[in-house]
Amino acid sequence: MAHRPGRLRILLVTGNRNKAREIEEILAESFPGAFEVEISGDIEKLEIQSEDLAEIALIALRSVLKKIDRGKWDSVVVEDSGLFIEALKGFPGPYSSYVLRKIGLEGILKLMEGESNRRACYRAAVAYTIDNETRVAEGEVCGVIAEKPRGSRGFGYDPIFIPEGYGETFAQLGEGLKNRISHRAIAIRKAAQDLLSSIKRQ
Ligand code: IMP
Repeated sequence: MAHRPGRLRILLVTGNRNKAREIEEILAESFPGAFEVEISGDIEKLEIQSEDLAEIALIALRSVLKKIDRGKWDSVVVEDSGLFIEALKGFPGPYSSYVLRKIGLEGILKLMEGESNRRACYRAAVAYTIDNETRVAEGEVCGVIAEKPRGSRGFGYDPIFIPEGYGETFAQLGEGLKNRISHRAIAIRKAAQDLLSSIKRQ
């Protein structure tokens, strides 16, 4: 892609195409013409075990920085996210991707059988560089776990997550709405604002 002057160049390091698509759409919607996003799915990140998404994302970002020539981009970005279910004491949290692969949505719904407290929050931590500094922005959206999967849009846990104030799951509501209110949208918009104001001030 040819670089358009005036746009900030971001390298987004993720192997998850759904996340990448959402982040591109969120940036394009919220900051039209401000960013150029390059996605790399093949730079291996260090993924530590921790309850703290911000720590996981920061350490992953620092491990990526050791492998690349960051001078090509205005910012290098890594995102870590998960679903925290209150009745399960925050499970699956940082292990969301692994747990979904192992037990699926059915497994999660089984763990929630007979549970009246269905509250859960999606959280995201976006770690990014500004010059030689690494920073993190976080976002959260809370809601409830549905009784059954519903809808075919979105990805991961979206068919069982009903955001607060809505009667349908993210998989039913679709990307337009999700990208306005999601954990990822909140976190990436904070990071983008910070990048725009820090880089403009220079
Ligand atoms: P990681 O950040 O690569 O560790 O993966 C996060 C995992 O959390 C994803 O693979 C999904 O299983 C889950 N997750 C995070 N955000 C979302 C979302 O917006 N929708 C559905 N599932 C999500």
